[in-house]
Amino acid sequence: QPVGPFDLVVFGATGDLAQRKVLPALYRRFRAGQISESAQIIGAARAQMDAPAFRAQVAGGIAAHVPADQQDADSLARFLGRVFFCPIDASSDRGWKALVTRIRPAVGHVYYFSVGPELFGDLARQLYAHGIADPACRIVVEKPFGHDLASARQLNATLARHFEERQIFRIDHYLGKETVQNLMAVRFGNMLFEPLWKAQYVDHIQITVAESGGVAGRGDYYDRAGAMRDMVQNHMMQLLCLIAMEPPHCFDADALRDEKLKVIRALEPVQPGDIVRGQYTAGERPGYAEDAAVGNSDTESFIALKVKISNWRWKGTPFYLRTGKRLKARSSEVAITFRDPPHSIFGKQPGQRSNVLVIRLQPNEGIKLKVTVKEPGPGGMRLVEVPLDMSFARALGSAHVLPDAYERLIMDLLRGDQTLFMRGDEVEAAWAWTDPVIAAWQDGPAPDLYAPGSAGPEAAMELMRRDRRRWREIKP
Ligand code: BG6
Repeated sequence: QPVGPFDLVVFGATGDLAQRKVLPALYRRFRAGQISESAQIIGAARAQMDAPAFRAQVAGGIAAHVPADQQDADSLARFLGRVFFCPIDASSDRGWKALVTRIRPAVGHVYYFSVGPELFGDLARQLYAHGIADPACRIVVEKPFGHDLASARQLNATLARHFEERQIFRIDHYLGKETVQNLMAVRFGNMLFEPLWKAQYVDHIQITVAESGGVAGRGDYYDRAGAMRDMVQNHMMQLLCLIAMEPPHCFDADALRDEKLKVIRALEPVQPGDIVRGQYTAGERPGYAEDAAVGNSDTESFIALKVKISNWRWKGTPFYLRTGKRLKARSSEVAITFRDPPHSIFGKQPGQRSNVLVIRLQPNEGIKLKVTVKEPGPGGMRLVEVPLDMSFARALGSAHVLPDAYERLIMDLLRGDQTLFMRGDEVEAAWAWTDPVIAAWQDGPAPDLYAPGSAGPEAAMELMRRDRRRWREIKP
């Protein structure tokens, strides 16, 4: 059943995110028949532009960001026929009357704030002042949701002046990724793993989000954020929560978010000695400072940390998190290393390794379980490790093209399902844990340098070595 009719207003519609992600995702779902032909998608931005010029821009964005075999002229023409544009100024009355006229009173209203957080307050106020912030409408906001706890609280308070929590959809696009949702399916859809999913059986957990790209073109934002604010406070925190949380009693927004919140609140403060920050140097391509177009900078483009969760389930099992730019490959995974059997009946076995469950998030999405078996041959009981390896693409077939995270999130938004969106208290709790970590390095040394194409600074290896563990190799 297609969703709609509705009016979706995208503020910041000429910006990069709207053009690259939001509008192409809407087109793909429209083409798939999931969005009503009577929906209106209204771009709003400061640019003085008319609807035909905006449609041409949207068509360009779709051509560039939707795979060629998922586009066609007929559906594109029908989609563009539902696209409109209103030049608007968030801080003055310019353009608002035209928007009010364009919006239909009897349909659902969704306002997508694809703009910097400094405009959230103005937009919320204007929607309210112009009488289009009805109690059934929804608003969507993107990250960064604040810069620290104080600013996140302020943003929540600003939005709360005009909207209730049930109307506010805070996006963390990692929650829209198929494989991230799979973390829950694997844990709670099988009997196999959950009984072992605790400190008693798990030695440690590694979460890696490695990127091969740098920060060129985004230096303005990135240099004020750094890897901790850009990736750990949000995306990696969400991954950590999904891995560590207790089973929610049902798959519903508050049940899930309550459990995630408990994990965040149980995080121990990170010890300064358990953090490694890095910054990439120049190689064949420019280094961090040149990419970010800053002079000397102490911002980290890499971070590795050892995180502990103080609760019954996880006491004694560290979580090692690392993320960085310009690393060896783009590769994200969660690896759960189990403890060794308490007693080996086979004696000392050099080929025996701990069981590891690897959930590959991107690319080459899949699951791998390393198990110990007997090496074939007459040479006695010699053990070797073999992988049970499953690629989702192979196992599920090409009929299951993984949708972009935004497609899933936008459909949930249109249906009013907040399960994969962050609640205000969750975001604040994440900042409450992040702030002291950042404060601790303010007067500390500059980040360690690392070569582009490496696995990060040597100190990150040492962080593991000193615990007699090793990072998994970063492989494409
Ligand atoms: C964004 C960060 O939120 O996520 C970027 O701001 C990062 O710095 C990106 O590159 C990673 O997303 P993905 O979907 O490519 O893993």
